[in-house]
Amino acid sequence: MRTVFLNGKYLPENEANISIFDRGFLFADGVYEVTTVLDGKLIGFDGHIERLQRSLSELKYNFKVDREEMLAIHRELVTRNNIDQGMIYLQMTRGNPGDRDFAFPPADTPVTMVLFTQEKQIIGTAIETKGLKVISLDDLRWGRRDIKTVQLLFPSLAKMEAKAKGADDAWMLQDGFVTEGTSNNAYIVKNGKIITRDLSNDILHGITRKSVLACAKLLQMEVEERPFTIEEAYEADEAFATSASGFTNPIVEIDGKAIGTGKPGSVGDKLRTLYIEENMKAAI
Ligand code: PDD
Repeated sequence: MRTVFLNGKYLPENEANISIFDRGFLFADGVYEVTTVLDGKLIGFDGHIERLQRSLSELKYNFKVDREEMLAIHRELVTRNNIDQGMIYLQMTRGNPGDRDFAFPPADTPVTMVLFTQEKQIIGTAIETKGLKVISLDDLRWGRRDIKTVQLLFPSLAKMEAKAKGADDAWMLQDGFVTEGTSNNAYIVKNGKIITRDLSNDILHGITRKSVLACAKLLQMEVEERPFTIEEAYEADEAFATSASGFTNPIVEIDGKAIGTGKPGSVGDKLRTLYIEENMKAAI
């Protein structure tokens, strides 16, 4: 049984309970982060902590994240659960006001903080060689996708629609332009140039995205940050997606159309290799 963290305590997972009045439960008033563990070390930890603080501040939470305390909790969970490859899920909500009310509870209401581990094979998965198939559908999420909230119902529906159509994931469209995948950032490659949507409120500012674009720079690859249409994606030489737990995942088919050769592309592959090398060096 896993040991999880809830509001200052390490508990067996079946003893970690949250109130029915919790704002996270009643209003999806919560934010989260997913940090990858590789060789028992944390990948991109500081990026996740900075984004967590930003999400909290944008939602007017009265909470200052303590990096050292968070690092200690992450490490303790890795140790107690003996995680070699996997993730640490962290969620914070606006706490338990003891009733249901649209208005925020008093500022001194303690937040709810939960962390737990999830084992997952990160390196050497079948996706690296086989790639993923995606479908496209309209992006029906709210307008602040830059905040990492737990309102994941639409991405979840989109993922199920993809699966029902024999695909693995969905790329979401706004006015015909790709925003991102259900839980990853989206990229295409054309004539050696990497194209990915520019940062705005339309997409999550991926920690992996930032690092992968830095790797592209190191490899002297050309990058264009701008929205691209789904038609442009159909004609691309290759496509891939990035996320903390997937690193870079090749996309080999979109809406039933093979992308490029229909096999994982070399640009995504080179980026993945360098990404792992750089992030393993910096892992803590
Ligand atoms: N998802 N876009 C969306 C909508 C996401 O949910 C995620 C992450 C990303 C990639 O961000 P990062 O590189 O920081 O992981 C982009 C996480 C992994 C999840 O929901 O499980």
